[in-house]
Amino acid sequence: MSKDNLNALDGFISHLDSIFSVTSYDAREIIATFHLEMGSGLAGTKSSHKMIPSFVGPPRGKEKGRYLVLDLGGTNIRVLAVELDGKGNTTLSAGSRFVIPQEMMCGTGDELFDYITDCIQVFYGQHCVGRQRTYDLAFTFSFPVEQRSLVSGKLIGWTKKFTAYGVVGKDVVVLLSEALQRKEMGFINVVALANDTVGTLVAKCYSDPSCDMGVILGTGTNACYREKAARILKSPGLAPLGEMIINIEWGDFSQLKMNIYDQDLNRASHNVDKQQLEKMVSGMYLGEIARRVIVEMMTQGLLFREASPSAFSKEYMLHTEHLSLVARGYDFFADFGLRDVSEVDRSTIRELCRIISTRSAKIAGAAIAAVVAWMYVNIESYHTIAIDGALFEKYPGYQDHIEGILRELFGERAKRIKLALVRDGSGIGSAIIGAIAVSDRPSGSGHDSGRHRS
Ligand code: GLC
Repeated sequence: MSKDNLNALDGFISHLDSIFSVTSYDAREIIATFHLEMGSGLAGTKSSHKMIPSFVGPPRGKEKGRYLVLDLGGTNIRVLAVELDGKGNTTLSAGSRFVIPQEMMCGTGDELFDYITDCIQVFYGQHCVGRQRTYDLAFTFSFPVEQRSLVSGKLIGWTKKFTAYGVVGKDVVVLLSEALQRKEMGFINVVALANDTVGTLVAKCYSDPSCDMGVILGTGTNACYREKAARILKSPGLAPLGEMIINIEWGDFSQLKMNIYDQDLNRASHNVDKQQLEKMVSGMYLGEIARRVIVEMMTQGLLFREASPSAFSKEYMLHTEHLSLVARGYDFFADFGLRDVSEVDRSTIRELCRIISTRSAKIAGAAIAAVVAWMYVNIESYHTIAIDGALFEKYPGYQDHIEGILRELFGERAKRIKLALVRDGSGIGSAIIGAIAVSDRPSGSGHDSGRHRS
């Protein structure tokens, strides 16, 4: 590469560094606007934070029983059998994972729910036949739902890769129960509906009562936390319940500064102007942001000069896993037909992955800081934050960046915030919520577990 080209490359990387940066000042601004939006969301006025009451409070650690769990939210459907011993211990006694074909995510709601019940049927055939007459199933549904009780909720809108037609505005528990009936599996009762963040918090809280927040950093991103029911102004009837977990739906936060790549990605997405934080942070999008920068750099002759930008022309062909590989010292070049990649190009790609993933972690860190400071202004006590998702678990250095920004914001007090990885939290937590719902069921009432509890 000529000296001029190297200078142009340096200039481009510094420009990227600046348009993807999140300074301490930016993080403080995120906290301030988060607090305004959280307040409005709880009051029921216009807000990009939906602040959805989950109708469940922290568990007591005494919940018991065996539950099936259906977990729908990312690229897979998972069906699990979870046992709770009533002493804070959980066992995942069986689990199966089924890939959701793209056409199911984007077809009709009936097709999607029929496919889901087929998965339950396969799991049932392998792990349950002949054991019991009826089964209680908890449904982890990781999309924004206007929850009406522990066991009912209408889909507000699809997020991530889903667009299945005819589901928005419908009660997803009814859709699932109807699909189970269609497949002659009416002996499976849907007893609870929970967001994955809520499941994650509850799963950790079952054994560690200091846990007050659940976060997902995976295909999508979101968080929930324990709120005083009296502060949920939009639902005054909940006040006597004491405490309730609120699903923030922070992925839809719309007050971040989007750069040109974010704007282009947003414009080309199926949910324009929705899920803006999610589009800058979560695993579904980081690869696509990188791809857009790569195409621009190739067009300007600053990267892979021997190849044509068409090598990266297909949207979403570059995945966050590719970025993660680079961060681990490997590369993804062969997947894109690139051979003999120069050291300069390799180091440019390393920089690019660092810049994009660091911004993601810093925004996530600022968002976590905002929620902790909302709960306890001076961080006077110890907090455990339950986190699940491949981005947090597998992306090298991701957790360090979150911890770094917490230290920048809170100094020594950041030591009181513990980030705990909770694998399978969303499924296990739902089983616990299932147990809460069943224990709340008025005796002899059959399937009515629609009462709430804190
Ligand atoms: C999306 C969904 C949200 C979920 C998150 C993580 O943001 O809207 O409900 O919790 O993804 O799966």
